Amino acid sequence: MLATPYIKCDYDKVYEPAEDSFLLLDSLEKEQQFLNERFHSHLSVVCELGPGSGIITTFMLQHGIPSKNKSIYFALDINPWALEATHATAKLNACQDKFLDTVQSDLTSSLRNKEIDVLVFNPPYVPADNVPMVPSFKDDIDEWVDLALLGGADGMVVTNKVLKNLDIILSPNGVAYILFCARNKPEEVVKGMKEKHGWKAELVEHRKAGWEVLSVYKFYR
Ligand SMILES: C[S@@+](CC[C@H](N)C(=O)[O-])C[C@H]1O[C@@H](n2cnc3c(N)ncnc32)[C@H](O)[C@@H]1O
Repeated sequence: MLATPYIKCDYDKVYEPAEDSFLLLDSLEKEQQFLNERFHSHLSVVCELGPGSGIITTFMLQHGIPSKNKSIYFALDINPWALEATHATAKLNACQDKFLDTVQSDLTSSLRNKEIDVLVFNPPYVPADNVPMVPSFKDDIDEWVDLALLGGADGMVVTNKVLKNLDIILSPNGVAYILFCARNKPEEVVKGMKEKHGWKAELVEHRKAGWEVLSVYKFYR
């Protein structure tokens, strides 16, 4: 079992790692060989959307997922505090942050199209009336943390934006790992991605977490 990064963050400012974060770590550990075989022959571009504390990006850096010294990592979060937290977590775990860049970004809008080989996203997936507005000021701390959780109708408003654009986000060989809760109706989402849009989609891991059932699916061509 691969070690989990040490984390020391201010959870008033960034999302505290929880069962969803750990399910993604387990999924990436399970997929390490698949990813290494797929990407070992060239420099790969890894992008985590919404790194929060930086636990997942640091885990990938630490364990060379998909391939040691042959991957560069972008961690893109709309919450400016998450960028500082991600660098601090990488440093705390002695990861070389020469391979890591963090950018304040609404989803992948700051990256060039078709460049990402491995996309990882633990989105705001909790069903809610609306996705919260982006706060005007960095010091509106509570409002930034609300953005980590609330995902609008079916908890899918933010995730759907990514799924709809997956073709222009991923490189031709790219793979996306996305976390869902049961209320997101992941089986329906996956069926649509396969039947309407021709993606391959597979369940990587799932787990009951309290009253919630979480799952991670991978999407690729
Ligand atoms: C559930 S948290 C996951 C945090 C971390 N990856 C983990 O697993 O512990 C969701 C993250 O997505 C970020 N986020 C929400 N909406 C976003 C958007 N439109 N663009 C980029 N990041 C976003 C939040 O700020 C938060 O850090």
